[in-house]
Amino acid sequence: MTNTNSLRLGVNIDHVATLRQARGVGYPDLLEAARAAEAAGAHGITVHLREDRRHIQDADVYALRGAIRTLLNLEMANSPEILGIALSAHPDEVCLVPEKRQELTTEGGLDAAAEIEALRPTVRALTDAGIRVSLFLDPDLRQIEAAAELGAPCVELHTGAYAEAGEGKGRADELARLTAAADRAHALGVQVNAGHGLTMDNVVGLFAVPHLDTLNIGHSLVARAVFVGLENAVREMLEILQGYPRGAHGSSAGTGRESLSMVFRSLDAP
Ligand code: PXP
Repeated sequence: MTNTNSLRLGVNIDHVATLRQARGVGYPDLLEAARAAEAAGAHGITVHLREDRRHIQDADVYALRGAIRTLLNLEMANSPEILGIALSAHPDEVCLVPEKRQELTTEGGLDAAAEIEALRPTVRALTDAGIRVSLFLDPDLRQIEAAAELGAPCVELHTGAYAEAGEGKGRADELARLTAAADRAHALGVQVNAGHGLTMDNVVGLFAVPHLDTLNIGHSLVARAVFVGLENAVREMLEILQGYPRGAHGSSAGTGRESLSMVFRSLDAP
């Protein structure tokens, strides 16, 4: 039975396209991947149309727009060319991300505080077109406040540093930063999503962070799909996400450590 408290899952299928582009062939089929994720219960499909087109292609965005039944979330840099495609393909949501040509993946969050004037017309154009805007941000209060100032209804907190921190103090510090950022966004009426580097192993630790709505997960799901199939990989993750203690984090901004011990207590409960 579906737990309505569960975290929602956006499945990023970029790396299905990576496999296709590695050979320049027509398979694996992105639409089949999207359908498998949806059949497993995913709440949305995410793709990143990078300026270098290393995985997702323009035609993929249009084809997905016509095929998926959940939500299409398009990740994109603040570039006029990609903005034009977004306005014409009309995804349900756009997540604005920073982009560097040489990076293996999106390495940091957008510097919304520094780029606020450059972001303003893009956020306005997308919003006017009825596309929900999210900003991919490091868990930094200045960035959250810039997102609210831009009128973005949603932020996605970058969990890469959390994922790379390993066990111990580094991870607790990252959880404290994520918690403070989530608390501030929530207080400002901004929806809190999160993503990057999340796996079946590290995602439960993130349950210490309050106010989370949706996690966007890609690489680890596509990697797991090699062994169990995409539908099963998505099902496994969704089952884990059912354990999120929504609404049970307390009302005030706690530290990551306090929240984490509370999560473990709630996971132990029958
Ligand atoms: N969210 C954003 C904004 C991203 O750029 C990415 C990577 O494309 C993800 C989530 C998914 O990260 P991962 O592939 O590490 O799960």
